[in-house]
Amino acid sequence: VIAVLTDPDSIENVRLISPIIRHVRVGQEYDVIVDWEGIKRLPRYLARLQLPSRIFLVTDSNIEPLYAPLLMDSLRQANFEPYLYVIPAGEGSKSQQQQTALYDWLIDHRAERREAIIALGGGVVGDLAGFVAATYLRGVPLIQVPTSLLAQVDSAIGGKTGINHGKGKNLIGAFYHPRFVLADPAVLRSLPARVYNEGWAEIVKYGIILDAALFDLLEEHAAALRDRDQSPVELLCRIIARSIELKVGVIEEDEREQDRRAILNYGHTVGHALENVSGYGELLHGEAVSLGMMVAAQLAQAAGMFPNTDVQRQQRVLEAFGLPTAYHGPVQASDILAAIQLDKKVVGKRVRWILPEHIGEVIITSLSDELVVRVVTAFFERNS
Ligand SMILES: NC(=O)c1ccc[n+]([C@@H]2O[C@H](COP(=O)([O-])OP(=O)(O)OC[C@H]3O[C@@H](n4cnc5c(N)ncnc54)[C@H](O)[C@@H]3O)[C@@H](O)[C@H]2O)c1
Ligand SMILES: [Zn+2]
Repeated sequence: VIAVLTDPDSIENVRLISPIIRHVRVGQEYDVIVDWEGIKRLPRYLARLQLPSRIFLVTDSNIEPLYAPLLMDSLRQANFEPYLYVIPAGEGSKSQQQQTALYDWLIDHRAERREAIIALGGGVVGDLAGFVAATYLRGVPLIQVPTSLLAQVDSAIGGKTGINHGKGKNLIGAFYHPRFVLADPAVLRSLPARVYNEGWAEIVKYGIILDAALFDLLEEHAAALRDRDQSPVELLCRIIARSIELKVGVIEEDEREQDRRAILNYGHTVGHALENVSGYGELLHGEAVSLGMMVAAQLAQAAGMFPNTDVQRQQRVLEAFGLPTAYHGPVQASDILAAIQLDKKVVGKRVRWILPEHIGEVIITSLSDELVVRVVTAFFERNS
């Protein structure tokens, strides 16, 4: 259930909608708040957590000039004593080197057990700073302030933290829940367009796997939502809150990906394979997932589970958000088929496919190798 609270102190802000609060019942329970321009109110939200005054803020080099000065000032005004650490922007910072540098910084300041780390940034900052918070002194309080659409609807929620290893992505990490998450959709206005668009892939995913009404909303309002100067603030906040709610619902049932949580990987089997094979950087994660959802929908259709009209609806929504639905590049079907065998969602060597039965519901099932080879080959040969 989402509770809508009104904030009387903020009435002067005409664009403010009421913050939407979701209480998460996992581990040490915590709130997720979606609040337009809420970043200005972060010190007040923090005050409710009764943290010590010293706060360790981690962000990246793109976000720092945009939001860190304002946040540092407002924290100081609220009698916090903030320290700032800026990592280089980009996936390369999810590294053991940056992890060590953060420990050094915390140790140099003699950061203590109860003092919090704030992760202000996209999934890279959130995963890295989250992992450092999980492990420094065996765990210090973590506040997630996700600033990319993907981080707001996905990576800041669910407690997965970690870094990459030379041999693969996200190989080192921990489950560690934040004490509080603040998603401020107003900061999405400064995202590069391509990075904004890729976040919608995960939201379309939630619609397909769990919520036909959300999918309908996306279908109806895609053009307006994509245009950030015009975007309907209230609708955007509600869609982000709904996405968070859906992910929270799944992880409350299955925190550690035994079973149900796997549905969140819809589109990710082929998506991850594409990212692995094409080399990280060519396709953004959301773009790879968009293509992966197209393959999954076509597999479901070929298996007689999913009507062609729904395959087309999914395709039109993805395209309306500027996401790719056909692959044009060097990767071959044979590369994808080989990579799928190594995908971490394989149990006992057999790929468990997450496939839609209709919009709003997926099942986890296996498929014959013949069908997978046929559909994947058609998808990649057609487009290369
Ligand atoms: N923990 C999880 O459950 C989970 C889930 C999905 C993805 N991830 C991880 O998340 C990472 C991807 O996250 P991401 O897409 O947010 O990448 P990111 O953190 O690299 O952010 C994308 C780009 O946008 C910039 N940026 C972020 N917010 C901005 C803003 N408000 N204004 C201007 N620029 C801004 C960043 O500097 C970066 O250049 C990957 O490492 C992935 O493995 C984790
Ligand atoms: Zn994803």
